[in-house]
This record gives sequence, C-alpha cells and structure tokens, in this order.
Amino acid sequence: MSTSPLFASAQLGSLTLANHVVMAPMTRSRAPGNVPNSLMAEYYGQRATAGLIITEGTSPSPNGLGYIHIPGLYSPEQVEGWKAVTSAVHAKGGRSFVQLMHTGRVGHERNLPEGAEVVAPSAVAASGEMVTAAGKQPHPVPRAMTEADLGKARDEFVQAARNAIAAGFDGVELHGANGYLLEQFLNPASNVRTDAYGGSVEKRCRFVLEVAQAVADAIGGGKVGIRLSPYGVNGGMTPYAEIDPTYTYLTEKLASTGLQYIHVVDHSAMGAPPVSADLKAAMRKAWPRTVIVCGGFDRAKAEAALAEGTADLVAFGRPLLANPDLVTRMAKDLPLNTPDFARLYTPGPQGYTDYPTAG
Ligand SMILES: Cc1cc2nc3c(=O)[nH]c(=O)nc-3n(C[C@H](O)[C@H](O)[C@H](O)COP(=O)(O)O)c2cc1C
Repeated sequence: MSTSPLFASAQLGSLTLANHVVMAPMTRSRAPGNVPNSLMAEYYGQRATAGLIITEGTSPSPNGLGYIHIPGLYSPEQVEGWKAVTSAVHAKGGRSFVQLMHTGRVGHERNLPEGAEVVAPSAVAASGEMVTAAGKQPHPVPRAMTEADLGKARDEFVQAARNAIAAGFDGVELHGANGYLLEQFLNPASNVRTDAYGGSVEKRCRFVLEVAQAVADAIGGGKVGIRLSPYGVNGGMTPYAEIDPTYTYLTEKLASTGLQYIHVVDHSAMGAPPVSADLKAAMRKAWPRTVIVCGGFDRAKAEAALAEGTADLVAFGRPLLANPDLVTRMAKDLPLNTPDFARLYTPGPQGYTDYPTAG
C-alpha cells in the first residue's frame, strides 16, 4: 500500500476520515417515489472505503424535487430509507454527508408531487429542457418566491438537516452550486429581485447566508458544508461581471457562520470556464477550516493539490461512480473501470451496483 497523504487518515472538524478521498455528490435517479431504498444502500455501502461519501442531491422540500426519481429528506419514510444507507456506510467504517439540493427553477411540475410548485428567486425560466415522464419539456417560468416562501424554504433546509442527523448522517452539504436554488440567488441572470435579496452582491448572497446560518444553528456548524461552483454554467447560469467579488464576499461571510467546509467544484473539465486561480486562492485564504476541491482529479492531481495546500480533501465523481474500490485501485495504481454513461440515470442495478472491484 502507498504511503501517499491521499490515503492517510484525515480530520473533518471532529470527524476522523479513513483517508482524504471524498465521493462527490452524484444524482443517480434510483429513488422511485422519492424514497431511498435498499439498492441505494448497497451502492453507497460498496463505496464506503472513501473517507467521506457525499450523497446525491436530495431535496429538503417537495418543491425541490425537480428531477424525476431523486430522493428527498422531508418525510418519515425518507428518513427511514436513508437510515439503511447510513448504516451500510457506517458498517464499513465510512462517513457520510447528505447533499441538500433544492432544484428551484430547474425542474418541472410533472416531476413534483401534488401540491408542490416550481419556485425560484425570480420569474425567469432556466434555458434548456427537463426530462419528465412525458418526455423532455422546456423549463417552466418559476413563481418568484415571496418573503414568506423564503422563510419556508429556509425552515425546510433546517428540518431536512435535523432529519439527516436522525437518519444517521454525519452531516449535511448545502448545494450552493450547479445552478440550483441557492446559486439561483447568487447569479443576476436568475435573480432580478429588487428587495433585500437582490440587486447587489451583498443582497444576492443574503439568502444563502441565512440558510447556512440557520442550518449551522440547528445541527452545529461542524456538521455542515457547502458546495460552490463559481463560473459554472449548469442550469442556465451565465458568467457575470461580479463573480469573483461575489464568491470572495460569500466565502468571508460563510466563514463566520461556523460551517466546517467549502467544497469548490471547477467544471472546466466539463466545458465550463475555469475558476480563476486568483479566485481559488482568495477563497482558500478566506476559509479558516476545511476546503474540498472537485473536478477532473486523478491520483496525481489530488496528491499535488494536497501537497500545494490548495485543498484539504479531494472529491472524485465519475471515478468513484465506476470504481467502488477506487481508493484501493489508486493506492495500488491499478487500472480504472470507465463509467457506463448510458446508464447514469436508468432504473435498477445495471450501471449502478454492478461495477467490478479489482480483487
Ligand atoms: C451522474 C452525475 C451526477 C451528478 N449529480 C450531482 C449532484 O447531485 N450534485 C452535485 O453537486 N454534483 C453532481 N454532479 C457533479 C459531480 O459531483 C462532480 O462535480 C463532477 O462529476 C466532476 O467531478 P469528476 O471529474 O471527478 O467526475 C454529478 C456528476 C455526475 C457524473
């Protein structure tokens, strides 16, 4: 076995991780009825040798279930379903945070349960289309959230975080990236509000900061992280002049909420503009605790990031999707399986729990 720091144990606040390898959150659409199940427990259990698993995006609200067959964490059935996942991970010595993802305007009424609706900071539709049971549909124009809606959504994040702890998770990751509700507040393309939640860098960051503070107050900041994707273009996010000031300000303010980590994803490997080196350095400098990085890493790049001190932990998405034993394979420099891209979001075990291990 290798003596590389990537494979040495790591601290995430008071939590000890077996290594510095994090499983990046990945939506897999294996939760019909929006309730986690035993197949998902098997999938996550297979990957529990990663130091930390961050689950797929999981909605804190019926309104946030924009994609078909994604799980939630607001009902008793969902809490029970997640218990099987956390037990499977803990049984193998792993740790897991659930990613709380409210999809906001990236969704469609057809994917939502009865009574739920597509809401967002402003009545501006996302570009592109959403897969529904009736085929692809253009993104709808969302209903602009009132202040009462904002309070309700914040409370839903808080309750979902409490539910996560009840389900046995070690913590939660707020999804502030990839064009979903929280990022929709940050970006002026999706936030054209003229109240206290839009119109300037400070105001566009306000809802994210309020949610972060409320969740940290509820379960303890040491159990909370946030994912951010500056320069990302998912969900119709478009580059804007104030990206660097936005994320520098946001990181500074998030630091005082007591959150344990920021998880910075650079989507340039997927065709988005790269996050500037200056911004990465500014966010690193402004963050007093753990920094996780993600996006196009392999063993060598991860070791370089740890050695340079640009990251404390490194998240791997596609490599862990296709290699349940990624940690062993990287440590022994064994070849990797490639992901079955046709089965990323299809029902059942194929392309999900049937990737072979090396041994
Ligand atoms: C199938 C798939 C589903 C994804 N779903 C999510 C998600 O639910 N939440 C999220 O923040 N990122 C999601 N991502 C992005 C990954 O977390 C990660 O940032 C991306 O794959 C780049 O890392 P990689 O180069 O190691 O794969 C997803 C990626 C893939 C491939």
